[in-house]
Amino acid sequence: MSSDEMKSAAARAALAHLPAGGVIGLGTGSTTRFFIEAVGELVRGGRSFSCVPTSRASRTLAERCGIPLLDDAGPWQLELCVDGADEVTPTLDLIKGGGGAHTREKIVNQAAKRNVIIVDESKLVARLGETRPVPLEILPFGLNTTLAALAALGEPRVRLVEGAPLMSDSGNFIVDLTTSPIDDPAKLDSTLRGLPGIVETGLFIGRADVVVVAGAQGIRELRRQ
Ligand code: 5RP
Repeated sequence: MSSDEMKSAAARAALAHLPAGGVIGLGTGSTTRFFIEAVGELVRGGRSFSCVPTSRASRTLAERCGIPLLDDAGPWQLELCVDGADEVTPTLDLIKGGGGAHTREKIVNQAAKRNVIIVDESKLVARLGETRPVPLEILPFGLNTTLAALAALGEPRVRLVEGAPLMSDSGNFIVDLTTSPIDDPAKLDSTLRGLPGIVETGLFIGRADVVVVAGAQGIRELRRQ
């Protein structure tokens, strides 16, 4: 099975978690793209969903798929949000933000009654920080001061795309903080959120209800205890 086949299989398996209708959060990334396309097929077949996209890219795709969308301001009554992740631990803690959309993703996650995460098995880790840095969204004002404060916690790097800083949909920098494997991600999250200038972290602690994992052996679901 190719990586795309696994992503597509996880996305299709997540359709079983959809309610009959209502407001659904649409995550961001290459796995979620398959989910958005599948929701588009359902809508064209007569299912009634309104959706809240977590990035401009997801909004553009969802519009192209003919999915009715709510505006960015909310408030929304979300039955479910389906999103991807960069790392998943056995206790369903996550690193997100590989696409730099984690602030919007966390807002929509918080507003949803249930959160389903879709991944291929390459995302499973024993501890957060094993394979990926922690993405941070950071205000442009005082960037170098914030980076200096972050150096006490790991190695911060402004994320670049083709040599230029990647700016989030909200006009902020994305900084990747490389750490060693994280023993206490909730504590690190709270420390990071205590630093002025940090808008949001990509640590999603206790925010996933179900993780749908696609692997060579098929689909399995991990549930929060
Ligand atoms: C974007 C995210 C994505 O959900 C995460 O990076 C996973 O992406 P992909 O499905 O492309 O591996 O958090 O900010």
